[in-house]
This record gives sequence, C-alpha cells and structure tokens, in this order.
Amino acid sequence: QPVPPMRIAFDAAAATLSPEGPTLTRRMSDLEGLFADHDAWRDAAEGENPVVYSVVSSPVPEEDRELPQSITTIQPGTTGGEFWMTKGHQHPNHQGEIYLGLHGAGGLLMFDGERTEWIDMAPGVIGYIPPGWAHRSVNVGDEPYSFLAVYPGGAGHDYGWVLEHGMGHRVIAGDSGFSLTDYTR
Ligand code: F6R
Ligand code: ZN
Repeated sequence: QPVPPMRIAFDAAAATLSPEGPTLTRRMSDLEGLFADHDAWRDAAEGENPVVYSVVSSPVPEEDRELPQSITTIQPGTTGGEFWMTKGHQHPNHQGEIYLGLHGAGGLLMFDGERTEWIDMAPGVIGYIPPGWAHRSVNVGDEPYSFLAVYPGGAGHDYGWVLEHGMGHRVIAGDSGFSLTDYTR
C-alpha cells in the first residue's frame, strides 16, 4: 500500500524530520564485533554502555519503489583508539544511496570487497554510494556528526556482509585528526 504524498519538515540544524517514523538507537552493547579492540569494546558495553548513534526516519516505509529518508546522528568518541561509527551494511540487491552532511565532521567509508573509498563529510556535502558498495559512517570530530540518507525502499540491509568481509580499513584517532589503517577486519 503506497503512502500518500506528504510534506516532511526537515530541520538540518536540529537533525530532525517531522512527522517522524521509526527511531533506532544503537548503544555500545549493540556493536559487538565492530571495534578491533574487543576488550575495550566489552569494558564500554558493560560499563556506561553509551548511545553511539541514533537514526530517525520519516514515515515513508522501507518498501519496494518507495524512497525513504532518515537522519543518523553519531556521537563523538573513540573505543580502543577507533572513532565511533555505524555498523555498516551492504544493500543486498545492490542499489545506490545518497548521504547529505548536516552537522559536524564525519566520513563515509565504502568498500566493494576489494577497493576502499573515503569521502570527507561536512554540512552541505553529498556522498554518493554506488550500487554494490558497503558503507559505514564515522564521526571524526568532537561534536555530534549527522547526515540525511535517501535510499530505495526495497534496497534491504545486509549487516552480516560487513561482519564477514570487514570494511577494508579502520579509522584511527591520531595526534592531528584521523588516519585510515591498512586492511583489517
Ligand atoms: C540506509 C543507510 C543509513 C544507515 C544508518 C545507520 O540505507 O545507509 O540510514 O542505515 O546510518 O547505519 P547502519 O544501518 O549501518 O547501522
Ligand atoms: Zn545504506
């Protein structure tokens, strides 16, 4: 059942959509297997278990031929020297997606199984994710990083692919900003 035409208020500064559909909150305990330093991850998950990121969606459903939108906000932080990030996923039926930077400093890490690409994300930047590229977002700044995503409703989300293949590189905090390590899971 397609949804009717609708007006969605988009507040880039507040990183909100209105009306709002489903909201997702990922805490550290939801992120097993992401960080290279498993002990640091477990300490954080069993300790304060902070919210690492949240995703608010418009009411447009994730259904074939619909075009849903969502805003992700990643909190600033590191675990075992790695910047906080989203789980990352592949769209099983290989469809494209765009991200629009809204607030803060982040990056869009993409991996097609062989090649890695990195796009510096800032307010006003569109990052294009071509079909077949797994994608993960990373907050490399010291304030919340948020972006709008617009994607095909039938694209699906395969998280197992990233757990199995990794993302090609890891994003490590350094003395001056961040660096991408060599290939690791
Ligand atoms: C949708 C999309 C984003 C992410 C969101 C959270 O296709 O790419 O809306 O879903 O940034 O990241 P994940 O889904 O990897 O936990
Ligand atoms: Zn996606």
